[in-house]
Amino acid sequence: MTEAGELPLQEYRLRLGGRVWSILHTHAMLTHADEAHFFRVLRNRVPYGVALWPASIALAHDLMDRADGLRGRRVLELGAGTGLPGIIAAAHGGQVVQTDRHECALEVCRRNGARNGALPVGYCLADWVAWDDTGRYDWIIGADILYAEEAHPHLRAILERNLAPGGRALLADPFRPASLPLLEALEADGWRIALSTWSVGEAEALRSVGIYELWREPNAAIAGAASGAVPAAGASVRAEYGGDPGRLAPTYPASSWRPRCYLVPERCSPERP
Ligand SMILES: C[S@@+](CC[C@H](N)C(=O)[O-])C[C@H]1O[C@@H](n2cnc3c(N)ncnc32)[C@H](O)[C@@H]1O
Repeated sequence: MTEAGELPLQEYRLRLGGRVWSILHTHAMLTHADEAHFFRVLRNRVPYGVALWPASIALAHDLMDRADGLRGRRVLELGAGTGLPGIIAAAHGGQVVQTDRHECALEVCRRNGARNGALPVGYCLADWVAWDDTGRYDWIIGADILYAEEAHPHLRAILERNLAPGGRALLADPFRPASLPLLEALEADGWRIALSTWSVGEAEALRSVGIYELWREPNAAIAGAASGAVPAAGASVRAEYGGDPGRLAPTYPASSWRPRCYLVPERCSPERP
């Protein structure tokens, strides 16, 4: 056990891409039951960012699939928390800046970067509400950062300002209904969105996590250009989703994303200590 302030840290190990990644965190939210417990008992005591959320595990897998597209690219991670996705991106040659508004989370993130050898990575304490980074990034990534609707205008401003021409955002989200208005608004304003779905967690209690890939076509009309569901360029086509559509369906918007639904071929296999 390591301590971050008063919070005992545990280690989560993920076998991915031929090696084991080690992530310190206070609580791993691998199942719905884990998350229900967190919200019922811990939400006012533990900052969200020091827990490990399933979206970050799905995003780590997705980034691993895109490793070739990361080398030498500028990557901005929003709401990095314990930092797994940015660590994967950095380990594959991305020039990564990991950001969070919570000091404790950023400290855990920094420690996780060091223990996985993902250096050099930039760390930046930054709040979306008072964002002053004017840099342009080839990738903007974020896991489980869309859950608060009041943050949507700020996140949108960051996407519009900080994504380089031709760049892409990858936002992982466990199908929280509160996340959808931002995605729908972006799509309505001409952003293209592709969705792939990953299953994360323990065998009997898998959770579905969507990876929304967002980009703008050069010279795209800005408002009202509703797009179809377009698979990401170069994304590997995975097996059609054959799991439990009933569990997914209620949170899908009535939009063009619905049909593009894939299942991760190799399930994430957490190793708990
Ligand atoms: C649900 S946690 C996800 C953490 C991590 N990405 C993961 O998936 O394990 C949301 C993260 O967003 C950060 N966050 C929330 N609101 C923010 C804001 N206004 N500015 C910057 N970070 C914010 C939180 O501190 C937290 O680390």
